[in-house]
Amino acid sequence: MELKDQIAIVTGAGRGIGEAIALTFAREGAHVVVNDIHLDDAISVARKIEAMGRKSLPFKADVSNKSEVKSMGDEILKRFGTIDILVNNAGIGGSSLIVKDIPEQVWDQVMAINLKGVFLCCQTVIPTMIERRRGKIVNIASLAARRMSFLGGADYTASKYGVVGLSHHLAYELAYYGINVNVVCPGATLTKMTDEKAPQDVKEKIAARVPLGRWCSPEDQAEAVLFLASDRAKMITGHILDVDGGQLLGFGNYPEDIERRMKASQT
Ligand SMILES: NC(=O)c1ccc[n+]([C@@H]2O[C@H](COP(=O)([O-])OP(=O)(O)OC[C@H]3O[C@@H](n4cnc5c(N)ncnc54)[C@H](O)[C@@H]3O)[C@@H](O)[C@H]2O)c1
Repeated sequence: MELKDQIAIVTGAGRGIGEAIALTFAREGAHVVVNDIHLDDAISVARKIEAMGRKSLPFKADVSNKSEVKSMGDEILKRFGTIDILVNNAGIGGSSLIVKDIPEQVWDQVMAINLKGVFLCCQTVIPTMIERRRGKIVNIASLAARRMSFLGGADYTASKYGVVGLSHHLAYELAYYGINVNVVCPGATLTKMTDEKAPQDVKEKIAARVPLGRWCSPEDQAEAVLFLASDRAKMITGHILDVDGGQLLGFGNYPEDIERRMKASQT
């Protein structure tokens, strides 16, 4: 087991990628704090973790709210005495509008949850990690931060570039204390977030453009996060790991383009 008896927090773990990360960590022996803004979802994931023989604490907190995040940190320390791993996964999709039409309040909300939330959760756990001179932080950004969002607007893209910038600073500052900070950038991953945004025909078109031929699953993302949270990655920090089935490689209509190249090289 890769995370035996470690204490991990996964934000936004009530469903989707966060749930898959929480369950994967539990499979590897971690005790997991399941944060979400929806308590019922957090409780149901926590029950699955307990059924696997691990401890779990479902905790309702809005990651963009400083006092709620602080209460969560205090409760975890009271209950478990330490924090080994933080995964900042909570996020919202934002608008799908063009810049001139994005309402200011939507912009502010996306920045508050997707970017300030990461900042607040890091601020809460860092003192404990520094004290113990160990810890792993994995921030979930997006392929949007490698180019632009495939479904969302500039609000979402800007927030995720912010997560990458914050992560680079944190990695630099915290290496001094032996703490690793890395980023996973998911490509198109089938969850409620994407299901709600994309009609079936759009989903099929997106899949057709992924060189590895399909949407990523939440479990594909969770395995990458597990690697970065484990001691196998102890000399990796400030790294961005794209989990996208090769999407970033593609420029144009992937299957047609590669088939044309193959045909040309055979003649
Ligand atoms: N699904 C994709 O294709 C994709 C691609 C790139 C990046 N991501 C990122 O992965 C992460 C997870 O995405 P997902 O697809 O699983 O989304 P999702 O909508 O299925 O799940 C997100 C979870 O976060 C919770 N949440 C939302 N706001 C919160 C808040 N303020 N405080 C605490 N919890 C909150 C939600 O209740 C939900 O349970 C997000 O950061 C998202 O931006 C997803």
